Amino acid sequence: MSYPATRLRRMRHDAFSRTLMRETVLTPGDLIMVAFVCDGTDRSEPVASMPGVARLSIDRLEQLAGDCVAAGIPALALFPAPGAGVKSEDAREAWNADGLMQRAIRALKRRYPELGLIGDVALDPYTTHGQDGLIDEHGYVMNEPTIAALIRQALAQAAAGIDFVAPSDMMDGRIGAIRAALENAGHIHTRILAYSAKYASSFYGPFRDAVGSAGHLGKGGKHTYQMDIGNSDEALREVELDISEGADAVMVKPGLPYLDVLYRVKQRFGMPTFVYQVSGEYAMLKAAAQHGWLDEKAVVLETLTAFKRAGADAILSYYALDAARWLRAG
Ligand code: PBG
Repeated sequence: MSYPATRLRRMRHDAFSRTLMRETVLTPGDLIMVAFVCDGTDRSEPVASMPGVARLSIDRLEQLAGDCVAAGIPALALFPAPGAGVKSEDAREAWNADGLMQRAIRALKRRYPELGLIGDVALDPYTTHGQDGLIDEHGYVMNEPTIAALIRQALAQAAAGIDFVAPSDMMDGRIGAIRAALENAGHIHTRILAYSAKYASSFYGPFRDAVGSAGHLGKGGKHTYQMDIGNSDEALREVELDISEGADAVMVKPGLPYLDVLYRVKQRFGMPTFVYQVSGEYAMLKAAAQHGWLDEKAVVLETLTAFKRAGADAILSYYALDAARWLRAG
């Protein structure tokens, strides 16, 4: 039946009928807050390229965690920004039981056991060269030696009480190896969020400033392990492998420029599928908002809703806390 019998604007005429037919409704329960932890007490070090985001000492991080719980956010993704003094060629600080990350995990789980905690597993905050893995004499990131280090890192986080380990390194075979190591160590409830389709994106720049890996990385890129930006069939292969190796949830990263990939992954596998609205996406939105060029609340909620509409079950975002509060305020 065509116009005027069918007239799609009739349902858009009033707020009530728009509400009734809305297919995708974003809630705080869809959101995962992202945070950076640094040494010290009562410290908040602003990240210049991410206005509104700071590296927080553990006591300040606990306050942020409390705010997340109060706002109805189910989980926090944690990234360490350790001091330059602990960085090394072999990244051994990553599995120090008393290292910054492990102390932060214990403190947060003690104070807010109900808040899910997701720990980044990759070596870049800990290496002097800023790569996610261990390098050979040519600077090439070696797969198997890196996996051995990632296993130690994942086990250290699991021992500290992490709920989810989230390998963001893109080595081949690391999900299976980490799963086996967790089982052997008795960490049968520790989940794995696999950064499965992680692209060699230029949208990570502000993050590298935040964890202090940018200067170390210099001109060295990550193109020999992160995915080529032109590919999406390859993303499905990556996801398929990670599922077969035991991933509990898979992730697409970055977010908005890769909505097509997110959609394909969710359609194909029906897995718990997370998406990461990365630092560069945050920086773009924040910069435009600060100039008064965009309505911050409206555009942020629009991007987050778009992720959910495309198939995301959960969304990692530096805007998660703001968004949850905006949603609660109606
Ligand atoms: C590295 C890692 C990166 C991000 C998360 N984990 C950066 C990179 O791959 O260089 C980026 C997150 C963001 O940009 O917000 N293991």
